[in-house]
This record gives sequence, structure tokens and C-alpha cells, in this order.
Amino acid sequence: MAKTIIISNRLPVQLQIDNGTINAIPSVGGLATGMKSVHSDGQSLWIGWSGLTEEEIPEELEGEIDKALAEHGSSKVKLTAAEVDGFYYGFSNRTIWPLFHYFLEYSEFELSSWNTYREVNQKFADAILKEASEDDIIWVHDYQLMLVPQMVREKRPDISIGFFLHIPFPSYEIFRTLPWREEVLLGLLGSDLIGFHTYDYERHFLSSIRRILGLEVSFNDIYLESRIIKVDSFPMGIDYAKFHNAAKDHEALPKNKQSDLQRRLNTHKESTPDAKFLLSIDRLDYSKGIAKRLNAYEYFLNKYPQYKEKVRLIILAVPSRSNVPQYQLLKREIDELVGRINGELATVSWTPIWYFYRSLPFDNLIDLYTSCDIAWLTPIRDGMNLVAKEYIATRTDKTGVLILSEMAGSANEMNESLLINPNNFEQIADTIHRAIQMPEKEQKERNSVLQKRLERYNVEKWANDFMRSLTEQRDKDPTYVAQRLSVDLTNTLISEYREAEHRLLFLDYDGTLAGFHNDPQKASPDAELYKLLDDMNALPNTDVFLISGRDKETFGKWFLKKKYNMIVEHGVWLSEGGNDFTMLENVKKDWMEKILPVLESFVDRTPGSFVEEKNYSLAWHYRNTDPDFGQKRASELNTVLRSLIANDDLSVLNGNKVMEIKSSNVNKGRAAMRIFTRHDYDFVFAIGDDWTDEFMFQELPETAVTVKVGRQKTQAKFYLDSIKNVRDLLSRFTKK
Ligand code: ADP
Ligand code: G6P
Repeated sequence: MAKTIIISNRLPVQLQIDNGTINAIPSVGGLATGMKSVHSDGQSLWIGWSGLTEEEIPEELEGEIDKALAEHGSSKVKLTAAEVDGFYYGFSNRTIWPLFHYFLEYSEFELSSWNTYREVNQKFADAILKEASEDDIIWVHDYQLMLVPQMVREKRPDISIGFFLHIPFPSYEIFRTLPWREEVLLGLLGSDLIGFHTYDYERHFLSSIRRILGLEVSFNDIYLESRIIKVDSFPMGIDYAKFHNAAKDHEALPKNKQSDLQRRLNTHKESTPDAKFLLSIDRLDYSKGIAKRLNAYEYFLNKYPQYKEKVRLIILAVPSRSNVPQYQLLKREIDELVGRINGELATVSWTPIWYFYRSLPFDNLIDLYTSCDIAWLTPIRDGMNLVAKEYIATRTDKTGVLILSEMAGSANEMNESLLINPNNFEQIADTIHRAIQMPEKEQKERNSVLQKRLERYNVEKWANDFMRSLTEQRDKDPTYVAQRLSVDLTNTLISEYREAEHRLLFLDYDGTLAGFHNDPQKASPDAELYKLLDDMNALPNTDVFLISGRDKETFGKWFLKKKYNMIVEHGVWLSEGGNDFTMLENVKKDWMEKILPVLESFVDRTPGSFVEEKNYSLAWHYRNTDPDFGQKRASELNTVLRSLIANDDLSVLNGNKVMEIKSSNVNKGRAAMRIFTRHDYDFVFAIGDDWTDEFMFQELPETAVTVKVGRQKTQAKFYLDSIKNVRDLLSRFTKK
């Protein structure tokens, strides 16, 4: 049976060896806690790192380790201490983590860590390749494994691969500082589907794809050679029922069964009934804004001194990545801050901050969530922040206030919480005051909405949505009306061609026979193309026409002496057998003086764009502009032109990074039909790559073989993926 292979650096459990005994402790962090619930249905295998280095695993315990992991549906990738150092503490957590969280100053760009990251990613990919059978679905997780999708794809082009990033994807301005930015993007593009928590991360990623790799992106599809990669946002949910039910069970516990922590919390509540508990729970990470939060707390107590001795802040920080210097410094900073604030403000009966630096068992988390009146989470950047969702889920009577940083991904879905900017102390102090004062009725109104949403879009729904989208992507080809010209279809086509008595072929030039060039004049034919066209031109009973939007001067220079038939400027001019160009269509050009200045004003305002003046049309090229900006300007120009040309018989053609304005009664379809109707052809073939070729596909008779180059939407019957495929096909026409 087909299975899902989940692959991430962290497994659901971390192994520790204590005096020869293996302990499995639950992993913390959003990825592990969230995916654990998805994984528990037994249909998946989870591959990852056990938390122990190869050196720490004695040979005799290897089998037991595997057994311990198998109990959690997991299997390990073995990493040496040096690999953990370069890959995990190094590139993952000293380069990518700070960079993607906008802590540019913490990012280190070390070639040796990058090399280890690559090697270790290969190890993970190999582990997948060993386990994956046909029809399995591979789901790769997070920033530690961004090269894995491509590494798997290389060996298994057929397999379905999804990737989900659990942290933010930064803006292009930040991402482009990474020395290995192309490699990372190409690594991710091995996937069929790439998921992010929010639309902003998705938008940033697509922008980097366009600007760094220059790939074509249409809505949220990326076109890479013969593949389409889908990008989408899936905000991760939590296991709502698990948290909600645990809170209910917790309430029903008799006093003597309560935990020590709960009893301590109760004692404090009972001694000061109007006291309020503020809670924050995070991994000890600079992205979580813990130090800022402590300073803001002090600010609050000074601004609203009436809450001294009434309010307590409980900070639970779980140790994280303690080999990374920034985390060690942060630990010291927080220890000192807590010490200083408590030292300065504490009274005999009141300690303003309770600070726990440890991982707590699930039951204790529930104690805290259910006992605290306010959850206060202030990340400076956070991919999602599941703690915010967990807190709300445990509020069974719907009381409690969530104060959440706008910079957390979860803020997008939690509008009913009190959103704050973690850098604005004034706002934070006022918001805590507001939260303390908030009437129960309002708390319940806000939380009911939040709970409903969390219950509906829980982690299971999140995973199902991702999986559905991934399988849809795999089965997607049929959405393209055009069929790929497979080997079989090509063979049929060739035999039809051979059997025909009088054949007509229309070949577009740019993007079909030759690649694009930043300067259109430089995209001249290469020797191989001349040879191919010579051979085609010599074919008996076959009329071959180059059909292009190019001007007659350029084509004349390239092809006239070769005596190829040519239709240029979309159908204004015709040249056959080396004769001079004659007009195929009578067209006006008086409109040009009105439109040219408009185009020129766009050139002035759009660096890299230029106007090409043809005999009967004007073209604004924007291939060399910033892709996002060029696209934006193109839509702007489109609007301007539409209102300007409303009364003229003109049309605007949106080509591949070019907009062309020309007379409406000129197009390739009309031109092709003029040729077609001259004889009785029994085989008609037309091939092209852009919008202007769609006129041919549309107008030629139903029996014509029409082929689109690339996978954009088309009226053509078939498609091919690349110029190389086109040349291969055409050269088969020339063979006996
Ligand atoms: P991140 O993934 O950056 O760590 P999230 O808030 O998304 O942040 O996820 C943190 C997860 O780790 C939550 O599911 C939370 O319950 C768990 N967690 C955080 N702190 C602790 C702790 N001290 N003990 C146990 N679990 C914790
Ligand atoms: C974040 C990351 C996870 C990571 C977790 C804990 O949630 O997105 O990939 O597992 O933090 O960090 P750690 O370094 O302990 O795995």
C-alpha cells in the first residue's frame, strides 16, 4: 500500500542514553508537536535525526535504538558529531534561521557549513530513496532540508514530493544576501508543491524565484523546464481536540490528583484573589522576543504601578540549540534581566517574574494554559506560533485573553486576539492593562470565534489540505487542454505527415525555433537551425513558412538569401522563395505618432524596457526589467492603451514579455488562413509559443496539427516543452 514518508530533521521523539538505558522524550517545537498528530494514524513513516550523534550510539545499542524509534513509526538518519555541527548548529541555525527571521546581523556565511549542509541533505535524500516505493508520497519539512526535494527528484522524476516551510520566507531583499541562494531555490523546486504558513511568505518566495532564477510564474504556478511547481499557503493548525479535552480532564481532576505545579498556582491564586497570571511559553530563541518582553513588562509595571503585587509573569522557556553562541548569549541576557527586575521590584510577598528554563511534560503545559488569565506572546518574527493556538484551545469556559505579536504567522488568523507590535512598549503596556480590565463577556465573545476557527482548521485539516493539493498537482496534466506530444503521438503525427500529398507548415521563430535573448537582434539563427531549415525548405510537396512578429528588415537579413518563405510583422508582409517582401494586408500607420510617445513615457519610467518600432506596429519590450515591476507596468500600460485605442482599429497583443500594438485586422491567424486557402492542403501544421500564435491555433481548420511550446493555457491541441523538443520533432519531418 502506498504510504507517506515524512522527513524532517527532528523526529517526534528525541533519544537519550542514560546508563545504557534509552529514553525517548517528546520533541518540542511547532514542527514536531504538530506533525505528531498527523503521523499518529499509522499510515506514515517518519525519517529524521534521533538527536544522538553516531559517536554517542554504542554499537550494541544500535538495534535497540532502531526499535525505540520504530515504536514511534520512525527511522533514523545517522549523523556524526561533525555533521551535526556543520549542518544543524552551523548552516541551519547560524545561517538560515537568523536570515529567514530577519536577523541579518546574526547570519554567518561559512562555506564549510554549506558543504556539510549539502552532504547531510544528500544523506536524508538517500534515506528516502531507500524507503520509497512507487506511489509513495514524500513530504519534506523545513529549512534544514531545503535541498532534499531536488536530490530525490533527480533519481526519481516520477515521485510526488511536497515541501513545507515552518518558518518565514524572507523578502527578496534579505534572501538575496545568501551566497547559495540559487542552489537553495533550485533545491526546493524539486518539489511538486511548496507550502508556507502565510500568503506573505509565499509572495516573498515567488518574488525570489522570479528575480533570482528568472523563471516564469503564473499566479502560484512556477514553470521550470517541463515541470509545473505549485506554491500555496496552508496555515498550520493544532490538534484542537487533544488540547481541549486535556483541559476538560484537567478541570475534572480531584484536588489530590493535581500536579505540584497546579497546587502552587492555586496557592497563589487563593492568597491574592484579584491577582492575574500572565503566561509566555517559547523555546529560548532570539526570534521570540523574550528579552524585549521582559523590558516591556518592567515598563508596564512602572506605567501602571497599581498592578504591582497583583500581576505575575510566568515565563517558560525551553532550552534550544544551546551550542549556538547567540543562544548562549541570550540565555545569559535573560537570566540577568529576570534577576534584575525581580531584584528591583520584588516585595516580601510578591515576585514579579517566575522563570522556568526547562521542557515541561504535557500535563504541566495544560496546568499553565488553564490557570493563566492572559497569554502574552511577543515574537519579533515567528513562522506561525502554535502556543497562541494551544492557549485558546484549552480555555474551556472561553475566558482568558491572548495578547499576540503581529509578527507571528498566527496573527493572520487570530484577529480577535489583542494584536501588538513587540517593539511598541507604550502599546504593550496599555494592552496588558486592557486585557486585565477586559469584561468576561468580551473575553468569551472573542474566544468563541477563535475556538471555532481552530477547531475547524485543525492540524488534521491542514495536513489533508496539503496532501490533497499535492495529489491534485500530481494528477494535474489534464487541466491543460493540450496533450503532451508523447512518443506515440509523435509517431502517429509523423506517419500522417508522410502519407499526406500536399503539406503546409507554419513555424513561429522566437521561443519556438530559437531562444530569447535580452537584445532581440542577437537571437539570430545558429548553424544547427539554418541546417534544419535548409532541410525543411528542400522537402518536396511541402510549403514551410516562418511566421513571426519580427520586422521584415531583420528577417530579410537572416533569411532572404536562404529563400525561405516568411510572413513577418504578424502578417503584414510576405516573402516567398527569396523574392522581395510584398504586403499581405493593407494597413494604416497614422496611429503610431499618437501611441509612440505613450510608450516612450513608459520606457522612461521602467528601467530596462525599450520600444521596437516596426513598419506597421510598435512593441514595448520588458524582458530586461525587474520581473514584478515589469509586470505591474505592463498592466498599467494595458489600461492606458485600451482607453487610447478605443476608437481606432487597433489591438494590443500581450506576448512573452512584450506588448505589441498593431492594426486589428493583422494577425498570424488571418495571415495563415490566406496561405491555407490558396491550395488544397491535406496536412497542416502550426507551432508557436506565445499569445500571438494563438490566432493561428484558433483560425486554422480543426484538422490542423497545432502545437504550443510550453505549458501555458492554449488553444493548441498539443504541447512540447522546449525548443530542443521542437527541433527534434522538425528534424524527424526531414528524415525519410
Ligand atoms: P517553535 O516551533 O518556534 O518552537 P511554536 O509555538 O510554533 O514555536 O511551537 C512550540 C511547541 O513546543 C508548542 O507545541 C508548545 O506546546 C511546545 N513547547 C514550548 N515550550 C515548551 C516547554 N517548555 N515544554 C514543553 N513543550 C513546550
Ligand atoms: C522550529 C522549527 C523546527 C524545529 C523547532 C525546534 O519550530 O521550524 O524545524 O524543529 O523549531 O528547534 P530544534 O532546533 O530543537 O529542532
